[in-house]
Amino acid sequence: MRQLESKTLLVHVNKIEDEAIDIKSFELVSADGKLLPSFIPGSHIDVHIADGIIRQYSLCNGPGNTQSYLIAVKKEAASRGGSRAMHEQIKVGDTLLIGMPRNNFSLIQEAKRHVLLGGGIGITPLLSMARHLLAAGADFEMNYFSRSIKHTAFHEVLSSPEFKGKVVFHYALEPDAVRAYLRKLLWSRPEGAHLYLCGPRFFMDQVEATAAATWPPHAVHLEYFVADPMSLAGPQDAFEVTLARSGGTYVIPEGQSIVDVLAQHGVRIEVSCEQGVCGTCLTGVLSGTPDHRDVFLSNEEKVRGDVILPCVSRCKSPKLVLDL
Ligand code: FES
Repeated sequence: MRQLESKTLLVHVNKIEDEAIDIKSFELVSADGKLLPSFIPGSHIDVHIADGIIRQYSLCNGPGNTQSYLIAVKKEAASRGGSRAMHEQIKVGDTLLIGMPRNNFSLIQEAKRHVLLGGGIGITPLLSMARHLLAAGADFEMNYFSRSIKHTAFHEVLSSPEFKGKVVFHYALEPDAVRAYLRKLLWSRPEGAHLYLCGPRFFMDQVEATAAATWPPHAVHLEYFVADPMSLAGPQDAFEVTLARSGGTYVIPEGQSIVDVLAQHGVRIEVSCEQGVCGTCLTGVLSGTPDHRDVFLSNEEKVRGDVILPCVSRCKSPKLVLDL
């Protein structure tokens, strides 16, 4: 079963920069002046932005830089409060609580070639990966899709001489043109190559569908930032949850999550995104058939059924027994 680290630390906002239209980067340094914990590329941190608002942002740093963490935030038109607060309220010198770096999107060490595909703000974990791959002298290429050069965060660094020949920018492509390009790019899988993608859902779906013909699932790695609205909108039948260690059986009615119902009975499960994206609430399943609604677990983990994200997921069988 996966283990997730949940410690927190205090940081100061050292620098805020406009990276692109509606995208700002934030440089965070440890509040006690010490180095920050090391991390592997593709990691993200929880940022406690305000009371009850915790969001996950990928670290953009290259290797060996633990004097600061660099994150980038896109101000979303449909913000639930997190990205708007980051853009409008957080100032240089502010103190923030953050979580330890966590990783659900790692580079595959034995890969012979790495193909990075980013759409919009999805570039953030890929930037860290690209910096690490460059430093390691690994074989990689990056394709970066965005609306225009002014919407392209980190354009300057990714177009610098050190990335020459590694990064291809694509601006304002119509969906058909993206599809055609992806078909050309992914029509065959170079031996030992692995594909990493991050971006808006329609972009991820398109890449996944195109790659499915020629790339085996184990060679395709994804990082989602948002929940899957289709899966969250599925049927919400009631079921029973039993807690194996602490005892107690509770009915989870239609329209309420396992996390909410247990909290009403004094059983607190740590949460962060509450959208099935971050993995914070990961809980062991001892029996029953989970109805997975998250985008965090891999397909393999979902089929195995021994863990669940109870902030969104439900149960297909009448009863679920949790390792709580
Ligand atoms: Fe983020 Fe449940 S709190 S997946």
